[in-house]
Amino acid sequence: MRIAVVGVGHVGLVTAACMADLGHEVVGMDDDAAKIASLRVGSVPFYEPGLPELLRAGVDAGLVRFTDETADAVPGAQVVFICVGTPRREDGSPNLSYVQAAAASVATHATGPVVVAEKSTVPVRTGERIRQALRLEAQARGDDLGHEVVSNPEFLKEGTAVADTLRPDRVVVGADSAGAHAAMRALYEPLLERHPCPYVATDVRTAELIKHASNAFLATKISFINAVARICELAGADVHTVADAMGHDARIGRAFLNAGLGYGGSCFPKDVEAFVHIAAELGYDFGLLRETDRINREAKQWPLGQLRRLLWNVADKQIAVLGVAFKPGTDDVRDAPALDVIDAVIADGARVRLHDPVALDGVRDRYPDAVFCDKAEDALRDAHAVVVCTEWDEYRAIAPQRLAELLVYPVVVDARAVWDHDALVAAGLTVATVGRPTDAAAQS
Ligand SMILES: NC(=O)c1ccc[n+]([C@@H]2O[C@H](COP(=O)([O-])OP(=O)(O)OC[C@H]3O[C@@H](n4cnc5c(N)ncnc54)[C@H](O)[C@@H]3O)[C@@H](O)[C@H]2O)c1
Repeated sequence: MRIAVVGVGHVGLVTAACMADLGHEVVGMDDDAAKIASLRVGSVPFYEPGLPELLRAGVDAGLVRFTDETADAVPGAQVVFICVGTPRREDGSPNLSYVQAAAASVATHATGPVVVAEKSTVPVRTGERIRQALRLEAQARGDDLGHEVVSNPEFLKEGTAVADTLRPDRVVVGADSAGAHAAMRALYEPLLERHPCPYVATDVRTAELIKHASNAFLATKISFINAVARICELAGADVHTVADAMGHDARIGRAFLNAGLGYGGSCFPKDVEAFVHIAAELGYDFGLLRETDRINREAKQWPLGQLRRLLWNVADKQIAVLGVAFKPGTDDVRDAPALDVIDAVIADGARVRLHDPVALDGVRDRYPDAVFCDKAEDALRDAHAVVVCTEWDEYRAIAPQRLAELLVYPVVVDARAVWDHDALVAAGLTVATVGRPTDAAAQS
């Protein structure tokens, strides 16, 4: 099929590459001309394993090309994916102006009926708003081509986005007409042949809600275990063993029960807030999610509290921060919990020494006085304490003895539990591991 993808960021670019891999003919469009220029010379503007290779294959096969003009992308397309950002506004509500602009420009430039597929994460009932935007544009043009609007929420995870898209747990399509359902089914048929998986065909509103409910549930699981971590620290218990044992229960599952620094990234924080906001607009107070958000904000403050406890005064100390990406496998620093940690440590008067295997470029402007280190050992050397903010595998490989040798003071705040707590203590380090007893709790 002929498809257009409007907005070729983390979601749109992966969608474009994967749709071409399935044999569809794809035009990726973005209004960021610099991004399009770099894509045209084969450079992928963010780190996503497997994506550059898949894109190159699509381009070489003549199935993918890029443009910064809607007029070049939309005419002739049967399905247009809207993959633009939906950032949060000050009050927590999602900013849907990019979605509206994208939808309107599709209607302006379409030469025949298209299926407009929302892939951006949007509040329930956005489909109706898009339909309205298309209608207004049709009135302005003086002809109604009969576009359809469907919801096709995206569940990919940055870091494994290609595999998640080509081998999804499920595909969700919400449409309000048989024709739109048939078009989307035809689009996904090559994927389902390769990788049979549940295909949830529903109405637009239900599909929109599935996405917010899924992200809010996962975020709540993370906040739940972080609340249990606080109790474990106070009670003298080990949250990681609690999580393992809970996870053996098939009704619960182990995923998303890693106590740590809380959730971050471009999705969970904004989607939780958006869901609270939408629920309130509809007349429901989603108190559970307000608490999920509060616990998450508290989790990000945990490292500073530990540094103050273990160092006394944080001012004038050098603090090594290992990891700035919001999770391993990505260079995305949007809403990364590490930023809250670094901000707090700097506000307390400390100097930070930063390391991340791929994400440092995303924070260079934000922290002009930080020391940027190419190697983790360079960040640790001469630091008075280390805080682990992202659980990259390479940090797990650093031996406790080596930490003791490199640090000025042997203080470790392991907010992602990458190291074996007991091994660190045995190596003579002073340690705070998330979800493990503090010294006082351990001794009581
Ligand atoms: N990143 C993820 O892991 C993920 C996963 C699932 C869903 N989502 C959702 O997908 C949406 C996109 O997220 P993302 O991470 O890809 O964002 P992104 O910021 O990486 O990409 C958005 C792109 O849209 C472009 N854009 C904005 N307005 C445009 C317009 N009018 N015309 C053309 N291009 C336009 C921007 O230039 C940018 O390149 C969001 O709603 C997000 O919540 C993201």
